[in-house]
Amino acid sequence: MTTTIRILDADEARAAIPDLCETLSDCINGGASLGFMLPFQPQDGAGYWRDIARGIGEGGIVLAVAEVDERVVGTVQVGLASKPNQPHRGDLMKLLVHRSARGLGLARKLMEAVEAEAARRGRTLLVLDTATGSDAEAIYPRFGWERVGVIPDYALWPDGGFCGTTLFYKRIA
Ligand SMILES: CC(C)(COP(=O)(O)OP(=O)(O)OC[C@H]1O[C@@H](n2cnc3c(N)ncnc32)[C@H](O)[C@@H]1OP(=O)(O)O)[C@@H](O)C(=O)NCCC(=O)NCCS
Repeated sequence: MTTTIRILDADEARAAIPDLCETLSDCINGGASLGFMLPFQPQDGAGYWRDIARGIGEGGIVLAVAEVDERVVGTVQVGLASKPNQPHRGDLMKLLVHRSARGLGLARKLMEAVEAEAARRGRTLLVLDTATGSDAEAIYPRFGWERVGVIPDYALWPDGGFCGTTLFYKRIA
C-alpha cells in the first residue's frame, strides 16, 4: 500500500473530483455533519468540488489530499481569509477520510500538510468549527488545536435533528 499526501492545483483538483465526491458522500452517509443532508449520492457533490477547484485557481483555497494506491481517500482544505484586516487568518474546513481508510493516520498527515502550506502562504492563525459530539471534535485537540466553546443547535445532522458546533483555533506561526 502506497500513501501520498499532496497539495493540489486547480487542474489536479478537477481531475480528482470523482474521488473527492466518493469520499464526501461516504462521510455524509456515515453520519458526518458537513453542510449537506441525506439522501446524498457521490454525484451530488460535483458542483461543490467544482467551486472548490475554482477557488484554488483564484488563490483563495488550499486543498490537500491523501491518496492510497493513487486513489484519493482523504482531504482537507484551508480557506484563506480575504478581508483586508485578516491577511494572517485561514478557515480549516472539510477534513474527510473515507471510512475504508480511517485509523491509518491520514487525518494527522493531511492536517500537517495543509497547516504547513497555509503557514508558507503567510497565515499564522487558523480557525475551524466541527459538530459537537463527533469523532472529529475529539481528534482536533490531539493535533494541537485549542477548544473555544460550543454554539448549540448550530446546524442539522444529515438525517435531521439539531447539532451544536464546537469552535477551535490554532496558531501556526
Ligand atoms: C475525523 C476523521 C477525519 C479522522 O480520520 P483518520 O484518518 O481516521 O484519523 P487518524 O488515523 O489520522 O487519527 C488521528 C488521531 O485521532 C485519533 N482518533 C482516530 N479516531 C478517533 C476517534 N473516533 N475518537 C478519538 N480519537 C480518534 C487517532 O488515535 C489519532 O491519534 P494520534 O495521531 O495522536 O495517534 C474521520 O473520522 C472522518 O473523516 N470523519 C468524518 C468526517 C468529519 O466529521 N470530519 C470533520 C469535519 S470538521
